[in-house]
Amino acid sequence: MKIIISLLLAALFLGVFAIHSGVYNMAATEKHWTITEKIIEWVRVRSIAARAGDLEAPPLDDSSILLTGAEHYDAMCTDCHLTPDQEPTELASGLYPQAPVFYQRIPITDEENKLDQLKEYFWVIKNGLKMTAMPAWGFNHDDETIWAMAAFVQKLGGMTSEQYTELTSVEESNDHGHEHGHSRHHD
Ligand code: HEC
Repeated sequence: MKIIISLLLAALFLGVFAIHSGVYNMAATEKHWTITEKIIEWVRVRSIAARAGDLEAPPLDDSSILLTGAEHYDAMCTDCHLTPDQEPTELASGLYPQAPVFYQRIPITDEENKLDQLKEYFWVIKNGLKMTAMPAWGFNHDDETIWAMAAFVQKLGGMTSEQYTELTSVEESNDHGHEHGHSRHHD
């Protein structure tokens, strides 16, 4: 018993010493080991699924909802997640972990999995993800707008740049009462 306690204390001391010495490299240019990456991904996937599972998605069939999502996506998300056919921005290239490029995703056809993905997108957009560059948009957007963004992000899978331009260049019919102040960037 004494030996086990001594070993644990020694391990703890070594851990504290290692952290304090600054040996761990926090640089975004220094990639995780594959095993660390797998563990982080496992934590992320399970954490999101556990929290998104109980959400109730509202009906999102109305085409105006997609336009609301498109407008917000175009104003706030493209620097990191890009638009169809856009080359990675300087910001996106430097991110670690990298932001997923939604238009390159293959759309899910199974209805149940599709609903799960929608709810997970909603949860991430609302709450953000710790220790990544993904912000929590729930601080200043209501759930209705976030569902619209989640629906649009899901529709981005396989979208062409023409379809994207069409959805994002529609004149704003309803004023959301706030300006995002970003310029639009279509190449
Ligand atoms: C500053 C960069 C940045 C901005 C701006 C940003 N994101 Fe993200 N986003 C990320 C990163 C990085 C990840 C991946 C995090 C990870 O791998 O754990 C991410 C992840 C996500 C995910 C989860 C994807 C998945 O596969 O589960 C969704 C959904 C998402 N973002 C939507 C959005 C939307 C919608 C906006 C705009 C309202 C937005 N993001 C703005 C960086 C950003």
